Amino acid sequence: SKLAVIVPAAGIGKRMQALQPKQYLIIEQQTVLEHTIERLLSHPKIAKIVIVISKGDNYFATTALPNLARVSTVFGGKERVDSVRAGLKSINTEEFPWVLVHDAARPCVSHEDISALINKCTTANTGGLLATPIRDTIKRSNDLGLVTETVDRQQLWHALTPQMYPTTILLKAIETALTDNITITDEASAIEYAGGESILVEGSDENLKITRPDDLHLAEFILTKQQLRN
Ligand code: CTP
Ligand code: MG
Repeated sequence: SKLAVIVPAAGIGKRMQALQPKQYLIIEQQTVLEHTIERLLSHPKIAKIVIVISKGDNYFATTALPNLARVSTVFGGKERVDSVRAGLKSINTEEFPWVLVHDAARPCVSHEDISALINKCTTANTGGLLATPIRDTIKRSNDLGLVTETVDRQQLWHALTPQMYPTTILLKAIETALTDNITITDEASAIEYAGGESILVEGSDENLKITRPDDLHLAEFILTKQQLRN
């Protein structure tokens, strides 16, 4: 069956220190958000996209996105989790019993990784997320900035997006966590709090989240490389 994707795009991009929110910065004549949506819409299993924008957004209307079939928008909230919640509430759960959530700021996600996530979650009938193993040696410090130990990285992963869950279960988990004042930074963390399971699906390091100024150049490099590959 076909899937819906929520794309939180209501952030201000503080760490990017740009004039516009980072999802509206340009890479090769298109906004980051347009690149992201193009990747998702061209995937054969994705039928619908809900873009979550901020109330005061003046940029979205100037993109090619408002006129696209299969794309709708809702207004987001203060934190990412509030934006995701708003997106989830707009989904018809009968039509889309499973959803993916994917950051607007990750334009380099590949069809292969999206397919791997969908196939593994579908086969296991369990929610899950794309992730990459930690490659660096990880240190724990004390308050004085001195090393107290080296953390075993065998079991440590970077959580990426998309993350995929049953729509009603994810919405309920998020609402419970918000009610209990728990800090939720991704979908999996809400599911963890609710006691649910998530499978880790190893994805590519190319699926970076544009966060700081240098990341824009890196994303441009990766997008160009990916276009040559296809
Ligand atoms: N996001 C959102 N609503 C918020 C905050 C974030 O929809 N209230 C979205 C962002 O637009 C982004 C994704 O969530 O696509 C991941 O968040 P992050 O990388 O932290 O983006 P920003 O919050 O915009 O950046 P910063 O934290 O540097 O301000
Ligand atoms: Mg943020």
